[in-house]
Amino acid sequence: MTKLEINSAAEMKKIGAAIASTAKPHDLLLLNGDLGAGKTTLTQGIGYALGVRRPVKSPTFTIVREYAEAKLPIYHMDFYRLENSDLSSIDLNSYLSEPGLVIIEWPEVIQGYLPDQYLQVVIRRVDDSWDPTKRTLEFRPQGKRNELWVKDIMNKLQ
Ligand SMILES: Nc1ncnc2c1ncn2[C@@H]1O[C@H](COP(=O)(O)OP(=O)(O)OP(=O)(O)O)[C@@H](O)[C@H]1O
Ligand SMILES: [Mg+2]
Repeated sequence: MTKLEINSAAEMKKIGAAIASTAKPHDLLLLNGDLGAGKTTLTQGIGYALGVRRPVKSPTFTIVREYAEAKLPIYHMDFYRLENSDLSSIDLNSYLSEPGLVIIEWPEVIQGYLPDQYLQVVIRRVDDSWDPTKRTLEFRPQGKRNELWVKDIMNKLQ
């Protein structure tokens, strides 16, 4: 298990940059964490590092936002407000078959629809009223590719 301590939003974006520079086509990143944990902030770091220069914001009402201009195209999804009936309207597999990076916030909502290989990232607030910017970030890779991906990310962060 790989767990990092993060002290600011800027540091979270640096983790995003390390994820971005080691990501490969068809990679799937799952972002778990409470409201305001920093899932979108991490995604902003990924987007910026891949050359996205428009704002990366939570796709709460659209489900998917595509950043085709990125060095590795990004499909950013957020299932927080997903209704059951919406599940059929988004074909996750067709996004995964594109040579890009799929990032999912609130993946627990579509648990039964996920493939078995992914990199799960769990972000938690650290309960410290003196410093509300502390987080922990845990990598939980599923499958060989994703185990290697975490190694690459950790090497970038050294
Ligand atoms: N260490 C940190 N990492 C990430 N964000 C931080 C950190 N410290 C403070 N923040 C702030 O916390 C907020 C995190 O919001 P963000 O939208 O990234 O959360 P989220 O997990 O995507 O929430 P939601 O579930 O509502 O989509 C931002 O305002 C960010 O600036
Ligand atoms: Mg978000």
